[in-house]
Amino acid sequence: MSKQFDVIVIGGGPGGYVAAIRAAQLGFNTACIDAWKNGKGGPAPGGTCTNVGCIPSKALLQSSEHYEMARHHLADHGVEVKGVDLDLAKMIGRKDAVVKQNNDGILYLFKKNKVSFFHGRGAFARAVDGGYEIQVDGDKPETLVGKHVIVATGSNARALPGVPFDEDKVLSNDGALRIPAVPKKLGVIGAGVIGLEMGSVWRRLGAEVTILEGLPTFLGAADEQIAKEARKSFDKLGLNIQLGVQVGEVQVGKKQVSIAYTDAQGAAKTLEVDRLIVSIGRVPNTTGLNVEAVGLQLDERGFIAVDGECRTNLPNVWAVGDVVRGPMLAHKSEEEGVAVAERIAGQHGHVNFDTIPWVIYTTPEIAWVGRTEQQLKQQGVAYRAGTFPFLANGRARALGDTTGMVKFLADAATDEILGVHIVGPMASELISEAVVAMEFKASSEDIARICHAHPTLSEAVKEAALAVDKRTLNF
Ligand code: FAD
Ligand code: NAI
Repeated sequence: MSKQFDVIVIGGGPGGYVAAIRAAQLGFNTACIDAWKNGKGGPAPGGTCTNVGCIPSKALLQSSEHYEMARHHLADHGVEVKGVDLDLAKMIGRKDAVVKQNNDGILYLFKKNKVSFFHGRGAFARAVDGGYEIQVDGDKPETLVGKHVIVATGSNARALPGVPFDEDKVLSNDGALRIPAVPKKLGVIGAGVIGLEMGSVWRRLGAEVTILEGLPTFLGAADEQIAKEARKSFDKLGLNIQLGVQVGEVQVGKKQVSIAYTDAQGAAKTLEVDRLIVSIGRVPNTTGLNVEAVGLQLDERGFIAVDGECRTNLPNVWAVGDVVRGPMLAHKSEEEGVAVAERIAGQHGHVNFDTIPWVIYTTPEIAWVGRTEQQLKQQGVAYRAGTFPFLANGRARALGDTTGMVKFLADAATDEILGVHIVGPMASELISEAVVAMEFKASSEDIARICHAHPTLSEAVKEAALAVDKRTLNF
């Protein structure tokens, strides 16, 4: 006997679990199916983000930052700490505990919102009268029928051709978050978000880290001025980042991994490391979903093909998050999940792709929203720029972290904010003001005229807005 639902969500990552909660809030009888298993084989909803992504990486970034502070920076504050030791097992155990709190939190939220949770892999079986039949292949196989189906099956790490992840020597984001002992030499392929975040973690913990990046420019998606500033800090941390390389043969031995590559000058080189993180992007995950059974269309890159509102080629089948086009970010997935639930309810769910913030949680943090200076130039948009360094911010001096700046880009004619870019302390939190401002189509003058508490890092945001009109007060 099949169980009937108004909405079935396949995948319990940030896209899926949030879609399920919103659908239930809107009065739909909702199921969420998620396959992720914890170490004991039990359910661990939350997807990549909770289990091997956003949450555990931020836990390790925080812990390793404390270690770095204790070893190198607390003395600047007059705090003398002697004999700082690393208990890596405890650090990783704490990270695992943080993950579990989040898994349990989602199971609690499902109960609270009356979402029926099924632990197992969901697959399309066939289209039936009034919906779709979904098989759940878990410890307890189930057959569900849903009037609407939301696919939120996420993404997996992309491997180098011919070099599969073994999570021992060749690590994806999963293995990179649980290396049992700090490697003496760690290699990273790809100086993107994961490469920089995980490279920072293991560098702070003592590994010699070399990052090999294929592109000739550093952090090409970020504003050039901001990327340049960030690069200086990464060099200071001791991250050896090599740009414009071409990675060749990778040999995985018992003790070492050997990576042959050509450097930017064309010279043939070899990098020998104890472990290698491969962070060269992610691929959409539709494995086992059995899309053929119902004729669900994928695009040429393997993503589920959707329109601007997450509709697939099939009536009442939707897809959100990493498994569809657009940035692979947890908050983008969540927004799409909410919007789809609202569209199913006949409401006008909306995601503004122009104001999705990006954050890289390194030290310094890097965050931005909107367009970069190089994009505005390419597009021929007339703009005015204003920057303000944290060096001139009282709170940053008190914190002892004056790295970086805030940069505003505003339309030359209307003063509307077109982009805000931050490199420096708490950039991840500061960027929210810029997102709100851009959602409300604010001008840089609007921000410049708003009272910001003193002393706060947010005053640097106000001053950068003032800088657009060349009238900073403190610089
Ligand atoms: P996922 O989180 O991948 O969830 C998909 C879920 O579906 C999984 O639980 C999977 O097991 C399940 N599933 C798949 N197929 C089936 C099936 N057939 N049946 C049942 N279940 C299925 N983003 C940020 O915004 N901020 C960050 O700081 C950040 N840090 C990251 C750090 C790392 C190391 C990584 C790898 C990613 C990070 N991301 C971050 C990206 C973020 O994790 C993803 O964008 C986000 O998890 C995508 O959410 P999703 O719901 O689309 O998919
Ligand atoms: P990425 O797309 O951020 O970076 C991959 C890098 O690898 C790029 O710079 C690319 O040029 C390079 N590259 C690709 N192939 C290569 C090759 N063969 N040799 C050398 N370099 C190569 O991807 P990453 O770091 O794997 O992360 C995946 C995604 O996960 C991110 O794009 C982001 O969407 C998400 N993420 C978000 C985080 C955040 O929001 N803070 C943190 C971590 C991941």
